[in-house]
This record gives sequence, structure tokens and C-alpha cells, in this order.
Amino acid sequence: MKAVRAPINWVEVVDYAKRYNVQPPKTQYELPGVTLEDHNGVPVAVPPAWHAVVTAKVAFTPATLRSAQRRLARALAEVESIFPLQPNGLLTQIAYGLSYFEHYLPRDVVGQHMPKAIEDGQPARWAIIDAIRFPKDPENIILEQNDVCFHFKSDYQDNISAVIRALFYPGEKFLNGIPVESVNVADLFRVTSIRRGFLGKNLPKIMATRHRIPGADRIPDGAMLFMGFTSSHVHGLAQGNLPSFETLAGCTDATPSSYFAGGTAMHLSHILVDLERWYRLDPGERLHRMFNPRRREGPEVLSPSQAPDTVTFKDELEQDARSYNVVGHNAQMRHLIRLEKDTTTAYGERLARGTVIFLRQDFDTIENPFEYWSDRPVSSVPRPGVHFVGMAPSAQLFERVRREMDSVELQQRYGLTDENVGFTKFLVTTHRQNFLLPPRAHRSFPLAEL
Ligand code: HEM
Repeated sequence: MKAVRAPINWVEVVDYAKRYNVQPPKTQYELPGVTLEDHNGVPVAVPPAWHAVVTAKVAFTPATLRSAQRRLARALAEVESIFPLQPNGLLTQIAYGLSYFEHYLPRDVVGQHMPKAIEDGQPARWAIIDAIRFPKDPENIILEQNDVCFHFKSDYQDNISAVIRALFYPGEKFLNGIPVESVNVADLFRVTSIRRGFLGKNLPKIMATRHRIPGADRIPDGAMLFMGFTSSHVHGLAQGNLPSFETLAGCTDATPSSYFAGGTAMHLSHILVDLERWYRLDPGERLHRMFNPRRREGPEVLSPSQAPDTVTFKDELEQDARSYNVVGHNAQMRHLIRLEKDTTTAYGERLARGTVIFLRQDFDTIENPFEYWSDRPVSSVPRPGVHFVGMAPSAQLFERVRREMDSVELQQRYGLTDENVGFTKFLVTTHRQNFLLPPRAHRSFPLAEL
């Protein structure tokens, strides 16, 4: 294996107060360096501002998989020797579609290591299954079959652009002004899409206003996302390694010593958001559809507390439907993604009832639908949307959660109108795919070495 240059010690190079070297986590989805903000007593995580997803098909034959694995590992190590592993540098995640496991690896190797979801008390299907079309998805939704999905995050969009050029386009020899040796892996992939976006304080409003998106003027000042409310509540995002296959008993058959321990099931979708229609609702109606109809916060509150004492379960959901004829987005799914009782993880950590085990890393976009799409021309007319990225211990759990977001059965039982079922009425999902996000140690073409 070709030696990678010694990593740069940023602390010696510059002395910015916030620069520090981090120990990379075992998982890919924990984000070193993400800071917290206090929104009137409510803790909120501040994810990196700029994001890009690059999907690809593998462009080599299975015979060269092992050398491809070494090359991608080297490329990623070199990128991380230049950009610090934190929001002011670059954070990279690499996930793999079912087609990678099915077409590039022997089935017995995959079968031996792929976590199996526990269904009816028994390990059953692989914990990564094909994404489905949900009841309220449009008929022409595209269920994708990408082999690989890269997700880059940084507070500086230029860092992301530079890395995409250096990895996937021939000829780029510098990163951040530094000559690179091993970064270019353009010949290993056929890029199928590039999807970009952003989130964070006021950025969605600035972007929507400058791109003249109808409804932009109604986005509350300071909002982290187009729809106004904060979605990165510390109390609403799985902490530590909770979304991993093995962490909670009863999700999959994986254990802390499994090959994919520290990995998770990741869902990627693109969702168009009808902002004009959303903002025709008054602030209280939006609050109730986002959270639940018992919330009473005023229009100035964009981050209503999600602390454990606000957690609702199935009973409250039914009661909301019965008494108010409205159910809120996060209350719809909470009974599936929050612990119903105090629990001890496979790592011995004690968790209180109400702890959330689902992680969302989605971001806003104005793409229509992507910046680049190999299958079809993209439109230059900006449209507000979300590139949704969510992590759960199995794709089966994600499927149950997402089904609940449509709430077809609940809606029929209580005769709810479409507009009163969370905010699905205001969304149109155009693309979906499930991926396996391996632990960091196996982020380069997992299982190839076996
Ligand atoms: C336009 C797309 C979406 C937006 C703007 C959005 C926004 C939000 C917001 C503001 C919250 C409440 C804050 C919080 O609890 O942290 C929330 C909660 C939640 N969202 Fe979404 N969401 C979107 C799509 C989705 C999708 C596609 C899923 C996948 C099933 C999802 C799953 C969840 C879950 C499970 C919670 C509850 C977390 C908890 O227990 O507190 N969301 N979302």
C-alpha cells in the first residue's frame, strides 16, 4: 500500500481558537466538532452549513475490487490529512446501496456479515432492503439503485466543491493549495448525481430570497430550515451510537463485535416542499402540524422544547386525532423512534424512556431536482426542497416510521383531512433509496478484503 503523507497537525499550523485535532469516531454518522446553541433554553445542534451528496455506480469489475478498496481508503485518508475532520474542514460519509452488495461481492460473504433485522422475534431479512413507494408518494417516484453515496459537509462550500473535483474529475492536483497524490478516484465511479444544499441560521431565507422563490418572504428571520422550525434539537436527534445496527437489542442480530457494528441503515430521498401553501397557514396551524395541536408557543418560537417532559406516545397521538382532528409531524412518529421504557444498550449505557434512536441529517435545497443527474436533464428553475438523510438501526424500522408519516390508517379512522396529517400534504417525494452506512473502519468498499 502506498504511504499517505503524514497528517497535518492543524493546531501547530494555525492557532484559531476553535481548531483542535479530533479522534475520529467509530461511526461515520457522529459529527466531530458540531457545536450547540441555546435557543431560549432549548439546546440545538448546529450542523455544518453546506452539504453535497454524490451518488455513483461502481465503474470497475469485481476482480479489481480489492485494489479499488485500497485506493479509495488512501484517497479519503489524504483528504482528511488536508481538511480537519470538523465543520470548518470537511466531514465525509460513504454509504453503499444494495446493488453494491449484490453485484460486487460473493453472496455468502455478504450473507455472513450483513445484519439481519429482527422481525417477529427472529433475525429475518437483511437490515438493508430496497426502498418502497409509500402510500402518499407520487406514482412516478424514482426508487434508485445507486451503488455508492458520498455525503460531504462543511461550513465552507468551497471545501466541498474542491473535494468533489479532486475525487471525481480528472486532472485536479491540489486541495486547499496543497498538492495531492492519491485523491483522484474518478476512474472508479460513474457519478449519477450531485445534490447540494444548506441549512442553518437564516441561510434558507437568504437563499430562497436571492433565488426569488415564492413564499421566501414568509420564512421567519433566523430560521434554520425553509419550513421555519428547527429540526436539529439535541432532544430530537439520536445521540452517540444509538442508530447503529447493534446498539439496541431487538433491532438486528448485530453485536458490538460484528463487522458492521457502528454501521446503520441510511435513507436518502429528495422532497419538494410547497412553501407558498405552507405559509398560507397561520403560525399556530404550522406549529400544530409540525409538533402537535397541544403546543401553545407563539410565532417567535422556532425551536419549541423537545425535552423528555414533552415527549408524546401513541395514546397522545390518538387523542390529538380524536380531540383536535390534527396530528403533528413529530408526534406521528415518536412512538416508533423513542424508547418506550428505560433500556440498557449493548454497550452498557443506561437510557431513559423517551430517548430518541433515529438520526436525521437532512438539509434544504433549491435544486430541481439535483445539480447534476446522469439520467435526465435538470431544470435551472429553483424549487424549494429537502435532501432527506435519516439513519435508523434497520431499513425495516425506517419503513415503519415513514409509513406512519403518511398515517393512512389513522387518517381514515378519525376522518382527518389531508391538510391535517402532519405536513405530508405540502411535500412531494421524487427519489428514494436505502443504503448501508458502514462504520468508519469499513467505509471503503466494505467486505472487499474478505
Ligand atoms: C420536508 C421534510 C422534513 C422537514 C422540514 C422536517 C422537519 C422536522 C422538524 C422541524 C421536526 C421537529 C424537531 C425535532 O423533533 O427535532 C421533525 C421531527 C421528526 N422528523 Fe422530520 N422533517 C421532514 C421530513 C421527515 C422525514 C421524511 C422523516 C422520516 C420518516 C422525518 C422524521 C422525523 C422524526 C422521526 C421526527 C421526530 C423526532 C423526535 O422524536 O423528536 N422527518 N422533523
